[in-house]
Amino acid sequence: MSTTNNELRVGMVGYAFMGAAHSQAWRTVNRVYDLPARARMALVCGRDPGKVADAADRLGWEEHTTDWRELVNRPDIDVVDICTPGDSHAEIALAALAAGKHVLCEKPLANTVAEAREMAAAAATAQAGGARSMCGFNYRRVPAVALMRQLIADGRLGEIRHVRAVYLQDWIVDPQFPLVWRLRKEVSGSGALGDIGAHIIDLTQYVTGQRISGVSAVTETFVKERPLPAESSGLAAQADGAGAATGQVTVDDAAIFVARLDGGALATYEATRFATGRKNALRVEINGSLGSVAFDLERLNELEFLDATRPAAEQGFNRILVTEAEHPYLSAWWPPGHIIGYEHSFTHQMRDFIEAVATGVDPSPSFAEALQVQLVLDAVTRSADLGSSWTEVEPSLATAAA
Ligand SMILES: NC(=O)c1ccc[n+]([C@@H]2O[C@H](COP(=O)([O-])OP(=O)(O)OC[C@H]3O[C@@H](n4cnc5c(N)ncnc54)[C@H](O)[C@@H]3O)[C@@H](O)[C@H]2O)c1
Repeated sequence: MSTTNNELRVGMVGYAFMGAAHSQAWRTVNRVYDLPARARMALVCGRDPGKVADAADRLGWEEHTTDWRELVNRPDIDVVDICTPGDSHAEIALAALAAGKHVLCEKPLANTVAEAREMAAAAATAQAGGARSMCGFNYRRVPAVALMRQLIADGRLGEIRHVRAVYLQDWIVDPQFPLVWRLRKEVSGSGALGDIGAHIIDLTQYVTGQRISGVSAVTETFVKERPLPAESSGLAAQADGAGAATGQVTVDDAAIFVARLDGGALATYEATRFATGRKNALRVEINGSLGSVAFDLERLNELEFLDATRPAAEQGFNRILVTEAEHPYLSAWWPPGHIIGYEHSFTHQMRDFIEAVATGVDPSPSFAEALQVQLVLDAVTRSADLGSSWTEVEPSLATAAA
């Protein structure tokens, strides 16, 4: 698929939380970065005619439809951007790839390994015809995370021994919080594990260049039954009021696992929606033979770096303010010290995607890389089901992260 007049006409499916974040990025990306193609926000899809019309107007889309098949099959659409829950990722992505479209699909890639395998295979076939695909692990595009990867790739941490990663939220501590789609396995695939655990799996593998080879896991569902929702979108929802009917929570509320990485590191991971007081605390610390780095998403302009090759008397964690023009992604933004935020990770994601598509290279993370994350999620679930027994991650054909 080639770009039309250096224009990529984007069709986006789903317009709520991620739809809004992606819209913001599509609106911004060509105004900030000088790119070989220009994204045009051509068409947005949602199921409710009134709401999708309103969303198109509010978010800046030229046209709207209630039928994702129409969007996928329209000859004037170049890119299909999937921002729906996991139960529709495979169906939409497979149809888009079959129609020769470039595809950007939100994470986790799918709800099952079988779906993810089919999607990775379809992406490989479509790639032969020039269609590119990518999964939306946007935290790779936080400049401090990209800097962490550079430091590790440059050998500044030496041999990596420890990876410590947590992703902590608290939005369902209240047992009266309703049974939104994220708490129903048939829609979401899994709970905290696939929703936020997938992010720290991808991020740590990306920055270390190592793959998780085996895991031992525990998962728990603390609140097993919840009121049915009146209406929900994103992470916000309301129950139907007192006496509302209830339903079963069919996913994990929390997942904790230890892991081995194939480069020799030991790792611990914790993903939970029950960390009372923690809102979106994605934190990673990595210790190597020559140094350490630490990152906290809630302070995303900063990276802590300890250089153990310095004289002992001068050592200590340095707080690098990651806002210099020579830091990844930042030359196009503001003067040093003028910080950026959460939404910029999506603008950076679109920047990398557009550049890859327009120059005919494969963006990363590819569907094959996202399949490998899915295999880790699957190993965690199987281990937890087997009383935490050690479980190898099935090998995938994914190449090392680009
Ligand atoms: N990258 C990130 O940091 C991040 C953050 C949140 C969510 N996500 C992922 O993004 C995806 C969407 O999550 P969200 O939080 O935006 O959910 P959401 O509930 O806020 O929005 C989902 C949207 O999909 C639409 N939708 C659902 N089924 C549809 C269908 N069959 N046809 C057309 N539209 C349909 C809904 O109407 C809604 O607009 C999920 O895969 C989730 O895991 C990623």
